[in-house]
Amino acid sequence: MERMAEKTIYQIYLRSFYDSNGDGFGDIPGITAKLDYFEKLGVDMLWLNPFYPSPQHDNGYDISDYTGVDPRFGTMTDFEELVHEAKKRSIGIMIDLVLNHTSTDHIWFQKALAGDSKYRDFYYFKKGRGKNCLPPTNWTSKFGGPAWERLPNSDEYYMHLYDVTQADLNWENPEVREALYQVVRFWIDKGVEGFRLDVLNVISKPDTLQDDFIGDGRRFYTDGPHIHEYLKELNTKTFGPEHLLTVGEMSSTSIASSIRYSNPAEKELSMVFHFHHLKVDYKDGEKWRLDQVRFGELKELFHTWQVEMTRGNGWDALFWNNHDQPRALGRFTSDKEEYHYAAATLLASTIHLMRGTPYLYMGEEIGMINPRFSTIESYSDIETINHYKLLQQEGLSEQETMAIIMERSRDNSRIPMQWTSGKNAGFTTGTPLYPVSDSKAWINVEAALKDKSSIFYFYQRLIELRKKHRVIQTGNYTPFLLEEDRIISYLREDETDSLLAVHYYGEEEHEITLPEVFLNGKILISNVGRDQIGKRITLKPYETLAILLTK
Ligand code: NOJ
Repeated sequence: MERMAEKTIYQIYLRSFYDSNGDGFGDIPGITAKLDYFEKLGVDMLWLNPFYPSPQHDNGYDISDYTGVDPRFGTMTDFEELVHEAKKRSIGIMIDLVLNHTSTDHIWFQKALAGDSKYRDFYYFKKGRGKNCLPPTNWTSKFGGPAWERLPNSDEYYMHLYDVTQADLNWENPEVREALYQVVRFWIDKGVEGFRLDVLNVISKPDTLQDDFIGDGRRFYTDGPHIHEYLKELNTKTFGPEHLLTVGEMSSTSIASSIRYSNPAEKELSMVFHFHHLKVDYKDGEKWRLDQVRFGELKELFHTWQVEMTRGNGWDALFWNNHDQPRALGRFTSDKEEYHYAAATLLASTIHLMRGTPYLYMGEEIGMINPRFSTIESYSDIETINHYKLLQQEGLSEQETMAIIMERSRDNSRIPMQWTSGKNAGFTTGTPLYPVSDSKAWINVEAALKDKSSIFYFYQRLIELRKKHRVIQTGNYTPFLLEEDRIISYLREDETDSLLAVHYYGEEEHEITLPEVFLNGKILISNVGRDQIGKRITLKPYETLAILLTK
């Protein structure tokens, strides 16, 4: 298992990336067709969201066959060709496996429903409580509503922490674990070099299931009782000596647990995704309640995680965006045209100069923005639709509901990749699955590649800098300029180099004082064309600056 501190990973939400056959659905040959683009950008690995056969109730996170390819995305031969062609360019393929649950269409669940006792033990089937046959616990699903679904004409329920069509697997059962390990081995044999493991820290449920009177149930199964045991087993039985990169998606986890998941001595995973920094605009911890970004909290979270993960030799995935998040541009900064370049590059360098592995989500490298569609008909995400209904049931008006949906829906980042300013943003010749954003007129790959001073080339430079400078990869992290309200600043240091990074999240010019010693350093990257360092400098709106000093 590898940490690969010099690498950068690019995430592809397949269905909206590039459609090679005009059916309106992005596909695997569409990725192969764009390999030169990734090579130019300089990324080392492509993370593909699920492409397995699935009824697509949750866009492929409801897998009905772990070792197949959904015909909508292509064939197994297409996949093998992608792996092969990518390898020629030294690009690895990371796949996304969902080991916490299967689709209720999966043969295991279907057999369980038909009464096969072996497969009943693959899931959590439990009798309802009392004469009214209430759900076994009061836990709620992460997508809204109860976490249990009652079987028709029965007093039994099955557990689903996500959608009702996503039944939780019983990891207590060694046969389940072995069946899943076989799946992992199958894909390693196909030449896959990385695994992104969906909601991995909720797989271990407690032995006794009980009501949660202070929360939604998550405290009982998050980083659950046997999680480390299972991950160590998964590792020895599958990843083993292979040079694989593994990243666990860790929902509501802690720093202590993340260190255990990702410290190489523990032999569990290469790194973790955690989401605390993406909740600083939730009101009272609620995603579907709007609030301003609490910048102080954001800064504190970055600093604390970086310092603590370094101290514990853990390893972070560094990211702002993915298919579950509205885009960071327009959320943590303005997304107005006048600030577009500065804000997008500021966000980029804030995390790319940290310790960990940076992930870029498709379109981030050209500064794609949230389309904020204003009518519910433009949305198809199951979580969005469920919460639309729940918010209306709570009595919110259509306008109030849509104001929340526009900011928070996952579909914000799932719209088609903008290749050109032309028809359907060059994504498909057919009818696209999602509406296309008007911003394609000024935000698109074609324009970005032509303009040497575009966001694309700034990302290219950041990716290059990480490969070149060990201090960016593994240097220590010390928070800096802490007294400055709108600044995230840190020092990275190793035996030979010091790097000072200053990221300014304000729209007014702002003066700061730099430490004397850095006046002898050289500017490694700037998004405002700064080429001189003085003791006092006036930061421009959304300026980012990194100075390297060789000891
Ligand atoms: C996390 C995935 O990223 C998300 O898209 C999915 O809906 C849930 N896990 C459930 O699998």
